[in-house]
Amino acid sequence: MRNAIYAGTFDPPTFGHIDVIQRGARIFDRLTVAVAASSSKQALFSVEERVGMLRDIVADIEAVEVDAFDGLLVDYARSREIHVIIRGLRAISDFEFEFQMALTNRKMAPDVETLFLMPKEEYSYVSSSVIKEIAQMGGALGHFVPTAVERALNTQYGRAS
Ligand code: COA
Repeated sequence: MRNAIYAGTFDPPTFGHIDVIQRGARIFDRLTVAVAASSSKQALFSVEERVGMLRDIVADIEAVEVDAFDGLLVDYARSREIHVIIRGLRAISDFEFEFQMALTNRKMAPDVETLFLMPKEEYSYVSSSVIKEIAQMGGALGHFVPTAVERALNTQYGRAS
C-alpha cells in the first residue's frame, strides 16, 4: 500500500485544496488529509468543523480519509506509519517556506519524504485568508469553495446564504 498525508490548517478548505486531494488520491492507494489542530494561526473554524467539512467534501473519494493531528507533522506521520507528506506548491512565493519546512521535516525524520503537487493554475492565487476576507465583506464565494463551505462561512459572519 502506498500511503501519503496531505496536511494543512484548512480554515476553510477551498477548491485549491480539493484539487491537491484529488491529485494525491490518483497517485496513492490511501491519502490521509490531516487537519492541524493547533497552529500559529487563529482559526475561524474549530478543528471538528474543519474535519467535518473535509469529510463531506471527500465522501465520494474512496481512497481518502480525514483525521486531525496535534504536535509535529512528522511525529503524526510516524505514528501512522506513513512516510510521504504531500504539499501543494501554488507559486514561487510558496517555495521558500515549503523548502524550509521540507528540509526541517527531513532533518527531524529522514524516513519521511515530502512530495510537491501543483494545483490547477486557476487556484494558484487562492488562500483560506483571502476567502475569509471575501466572505466577511459579503462577496460571492462560488468560484473558490464548495456550497457547504460557503454556507458555513456565511453563518460564521452572520450572513444569510
Ligand atoms: N489551494 C488553496 N489554498 C492553499 C493551497 C491550495 N492548494 N495550498 C495552500 N493553500 C493556502 C492555505 O489555505 C493557507 O492559507 P492561509 O495562510 O490564508 O490560511 C496558505 O496557503 C498556507 O498553506 P500551508 O502552507 O499549507 O499552511 P497551512 O497552515 O495550511 O499548513 C501545516 C501548515 C499545518 C502543514 C504546518 O504548519 C505543520 O506541519 N504544522 C504542524 C507543526 C509542525 O510540524 N511544525 C514544523 C514544521 S517544519
